[in-house]
Amino acid sequence: MKTKIFSLIAAFSFTLSVTAAPPAEEGKSIFAARCAACHNVNKVLVGPALAGVDTRHSIEWIVNFVHSSQTVIKSGDTAAVALFNKFNHVQMPNHPDLSEGQIKNVVEYIKTEAKAGGEKAPFAKPYSARPNYAPLSSANYGFFLSYFALVGLLICVLLFAVQLKQYERRVAGEE
Ligand code: HEC
Repeated sequence: MKTKIFSLIAAFSFTLSVTAAPPAEEGKSIFAARCAACHNVNKVLVGPALAGVDTRHSIEWIVNFVHSSQTVIKSGDTAAVALFNKFNHVQMPNHPDLSEGQIKNVVEYIKTEAKAGGEKAPFAKPYSARPNYAPLSSANYGFFLSYFALVGLLICVLLFAVQLKQYERRVAGEE
């Protein structure tokens, strides 16, 4: 039974890895050839760092922007106009020949690359959002400080209770 489950899991993860590898791979080569001159996943170059881009915009937005950024900007899209202003009106070249699937693969590549690290990735330090999930570090000392304060308080209360009991005994003994 155990071996059956094990081989099932093994087969499943194998299919996963086989089906999951190509998109990011294809995305990587597209990114290297057509985007890397201006973009890095984790660093601002000519264009913005693309880590987390899939959380800032919908995939349709990204596809439209990559096809023709000026069309999106001229349509008055507030996010696009703000970006264009922030990046000193540098026009991103159009890539109308990239299919929606190819652009999705680039986004997949960006996701894997962002996970791999880089100081500026917004999720490079996931524990800053959930400090109590992380080992002791400068990012969560507040949590540990309050934890130790609580333990300290508990010890004080216990010591006080013991003292009180002894005092009560002494008083009772004197009577
Ligand atoms: C010539 C430089 C250049 C190239 C090449 C380029 N970009 Fe850009 N990209 C920019 C600039 C500059 C911006 C900021 C918006 C603007 O100024 O239009 C931008 C913005 C973006 C945004 C919005 C980012 C955000 O943080 O919201 C996405 C997504 C994007 N680019 C994807 C791509 C992809 C995918 C490619 C390759 C197929 C690519 N870019 C190629 C310069 C470039």
